[in-house]
Amino acid sequence: MTEAAAAPQTERKKIIFSAIQPTGVFTLGNYIGAVRNWGKLQEDYNCLYCVADLHAITVRQEPAALRKRTLEAYALLMACGIDPERSILFIQSHNPHHTGMSWVLNCFTQFGELSRMTQFKDKSARYANDVNAGLFTYPVLMATDILLYQTDYVPVGEDQRQHLEITRDIAGRFNGVYGPTLTLPEPFIPKAEQGARIMSLQDPTKKMSKSDPNPKAFISILDEPGVILKKFRSAVTDSEARVACAPGKEGINNLMGIYSVLTGKDFAAIEEEFAGRGYGDFKTAVGEAVVQELAPVQARYKELMADKGYLEECYRRGAQQAMALSRRTIEKVYRRVGFLQP
Ligand code: TYM
Repeated sequence: MTEAAAAPQTERKKIIFSAIQPTGVFTLGNYIGAVRNWGKLQEDYNCLYCVADLHAITVRQEPAALRKRTLEAYALLMACGIDPERSILFIQSHNPHHTGMSWVLNCFTQFGELSRMTQFKDKSARYANDVNAGLFTYPVLMATDILLYQTDYVPVGEDQRQHLEITRDIAGRFNGVYGPTLTLPEPFIPKAEQGARIMSLQDPTKKMSKSDPNPKAFISILDEPGVILKKFRSAVTDSEARVACAPGKEGINNLMGIYSVLTGKDFAAIEEEFAGRGYGDFKTAVGEAVVQELAPVQARYKELMADKGYLEECYRRGAQQAMALSRRTIEKVYRRVGFLQP
């Protein structure tokens, strides 16, 4: 990660915020690009993490399925190492300050800049029969999530970079009008070879996504070991039979990235390890590394899902803690824009 990881202990602990949508079981892309790093940051930062259910309804969701997936996503975050005793772990819709402040920030965001968001362009093409206003103002809600907690760093995958840029623009604009109010956050994105963008196993020019209609294209972090190995064996590569990182070898580059993050070996060491061996061996080794990494996550997840009472206790407390913090910002913002105090 970046230099932020080395923040001196003597300073006030910096604030980290990140979130994930409960639109399906997390993929290996979510895990390597983001969630795996979140637990590690708890030592040195004040961390807030949330399940972004408000964002999820920008695409039509079946209510019972959304409820189930929200709880599952919450448990998965804990299974991936987020400790609700050390971080504030909550569900976005449980803190009404998110929607309240989002309205204010909508009034500081331009139609033109939202029209340029690549995720909006992609999603409005994909869901052409439901290009709703929420899909359009999605980045403003995301900016609100971050700015409500005066966040210093936002650990995300590469695909969220543009949303962080607009967050800074919105905060800068608000501060420009009313004076210093909102902290400008920095993105905290892994380097490319450390998993900032994990690609589809079936089309390595596309990012791995939980909404991909082809389940062979992504690894879900709850996939059984046999399924994981099979998906890696059928991953699309090239016809060169040479494990090396090079342009035009997107499939192999992607597998090398995954293997490198999970084993700590650099690309040169991986090339050496598999020199003269076929892709079959390499794909099996990558699959096995993934199975080994996910085994404890899967075991912990099962335990957590068996104790719904504990999960409920955690998300209730998380919401109270989040609200206590965000109240300071939203009250300041409301005062600044001229709302009469209730
Ligand atoms: P979401 O739910 O799409 O993804 C959660 C996190 O996973 C990362 N990610 C990836 N990283 C590497 N390779 C991939 N193939 C890959 N796919 C996903 C994402 O970059 C993200 O970090 N809008 C956000 C959720 C959100 C949020 C926020 C994030 C709501 N409010 C405030 C940060 C701060 C989203 O849809 O992420």
